[in-house]
Amino acid sequence: MRKVAFLGLGLMGRGMALNVLKAGYDLSVWNRSPGKAAPLVDAGAKAADSPAEAVRDADVIVTIVGDDDASEAVWLGDDGVLQGAKPGAIAIESTTVSHGWMVKLGDACTEAGLRFLDCPVTGGPPGAQSGQLTMLVGGEADVLDGARPVLESYAKRIYHFGPVGAGTAYKLIVNTIGAVQAAAVAEGMMVAKAAGLPLDLVAEALGSGSVASPMTAYIAPRMAKNEHEEVRFAAKWRSKDAGYGVAMAHELDCAVPAFEYVADLFARTVDAGLGARNESAIQRLIENG
Ligand SMILES: NC(=O)c1ccc[n+]([C@@H]2O[C@H](COP(=O)([O-])OP(=O)(O)OC[C@H]3O[C@@H](n4cnc5c(N)ncnc54)[C@H](OP(=O)(O)O)[C@@H]3O)[C@@H](O)[C@H]2O)c1
Repeated sequence: MRKVAFLGLGLMGRGMALNVLKAGYDLSVWNRSPGKAAPLVDAGAKAADSPAEAVRDADVIVTIVGDDDASEAVWLGDDGVLQGAKPGAIAIESTTVSHGWMVKLGDACTEAGLRFLDCPVTGGPPGAQSGQLTMLVGGEADVLDGARPVLESYAKRIYHFGPVGAGTAYKLIVNTIGAVQAAAVAEGMMVAKAAGLPLDLVAEALGSGSVASPMTAYIAPRMAKNEHEEVRFAAKWRSKDAGYGVAMAHELDCAVPAFEYVADLFARTVDAGLGARNESAIQRLIENG
């Protein structure tokens, strides 16, 4: 298992791929905008012109792109992964996609003779760079065992939730909870400002008190400054995840009014032209009513 193909070199993928290289794998990479492959090539990877070319001899294939449409294009499109992958290769989708699409993709890969895992991640770009991500896995245990050495090059925890789709089910729950937390902090900050409180101190206290979480600790200081240019997780991706999370809950006949309300707030954040900003930009929508 020495040859790895890595597709999608955005904020998450570039750090993950660099850690695969550092672990000593023979790595080929592809990104839709080819310029993003340059740092990987400088570090020793081979750049391919298409997903099919990138995966041609790969034992393990990892993709992390944007959403369902991007995933479908990369795996099933002309010159997509399924046009080049060798039978028996381990195929790992780490994009956060809808639960329905992940299960369909797993079926398509299995029919093509690949061994598939759904494997969304948490930990953000800092975790990708430092090799400290958490992997949320769905699939067969023996496939996970085969993939483990590659996953361990960028992950500190690997949680196996069940069959294909189970990692994504958990990921959509946790990311929709994250959306609720972000909206709650934005509303709290707005009220704190109206009450004349020192916002930097409010952010510090929120990050260490009873509602502290990694989300609160990272997002409150940005909201204290109303500064959303430096992107760690784009508002459009948080909106996508909350939308997929609500859709999955509905398919499971679960009533999720808090999730629905917040998914709508994030959708409106994107509609307001803030989708490419950091997710903390939901603050602008909330403050403008
Ligand atoms: N950032 C986080 O904190 C975080 C944490 C966990 C999971 N995630 C998930 O990980 C995935 C990537 O997130 P990110 O933050 O790395 O996003 P990003 O920086 O916006 O990168 C998105 C990547 O997807 C590619 N892409 C988008 N649409 C495509 C299409 N139609 N065909 C082919 N490639 C396409 C982009 O290519 P170009 O370079 O050509 O645009 C880029 O490589 C998303 O599903 C996100 O929800 C993100």
